[in-house]
Amino acid sequence: MSAGGVSRSGKPAVVAHRGSSADHAEHTLAAYEAALAEGADGLECDVRLTADEQLVCIHDRTIDRTSDGSGVVSELTLAQLREHDFGSWHSGRPASVLTLPELLELTLDWARPVRLFVETKHPARYGGLVEARLLETLHDFRVAAPPSADHSRAVVMSFSASAAWRVRRSAPMLPTILLGDSLLGVQAGPATAVGATGIGPSVSVLRAHPELVDKAAAGGRVTYAWTVDESADVQLCADLGVRWIATNHPARVRDWLVTV
Ligand code: G3P
Ligand code: CA
Repeated sequence: MSAGGVSRSGKPAVVAHRGSSADHAEHTLAAYEAALAEGADGLECDVRLTADEQLVCIHDRTIDRTSDGSGVVSELTLAQLREHDFGSWHSGRPASVLTLPELLELTLDWARPVRLFVETKHPARYGGLVEARLLETLHDFRVAAPPSADHSRAVVMSFSASAAWRVRRSAPMLPTILLGDSLLGVQAGPATAVGATGIGPSVSVLRAHPELVDKAAAGGRVTYAWTVDESADVQLCADLGVRWIATNHPARVRDWLVTV
């Protein structure tokens, strides 16, 4: 990966969405280790706060779908989450809940420079607490104040403009991506308003509005597309000059990129 996050060939860089999550239970250490072994340039994760204000890598509001337990993440302590198995539901292999510090350790210790894309969930409900804890954690790992966005090892993403703005205001050098699953969410206006360094359209939005990439570039912004699991979409992203593509199949997408 170059400093700018594009792979050595100038093609889009591959971000493993929730790890190598088609083949492994999402957001587990095994999923991220597999993604790194498969050559991913970046790792994507969702973060939520536990009842004792620890950041854990979990997508859903509850643990019902991805563990052998049940309950709302924000009403459970980290110790309670550690009692559950987050792996067997998918692959039959048990796995613990993964914390953001544990994922940062893995990412930053890897032999290649890999970038971590952290998406904040439920930002409105906690009035900025998630972003504050996230920035504290990134600060502890010395990745909250990179020399430039292009040289950052961490990127913060959100569907919430207010969350993106809070991060931008507190950590101006940290790259931020405003995600959207509609045209409205990723147009230049909102991204400019919150100072985001990138836009993050779903691939279906990108298919309908390919001009978004050039418009973002004209404003100095990069494009991160999700979730890109089909070869035709990989080709589209490469043709458009998308910087990062998030996929559940990092090995497969890397193979496809060889031929685009
Ligand atoms: O990478 C962005 C993408 O993850 C947003 O959607 O629901 O998978 O978090 P979701
Ligand atoms: Ca996500």
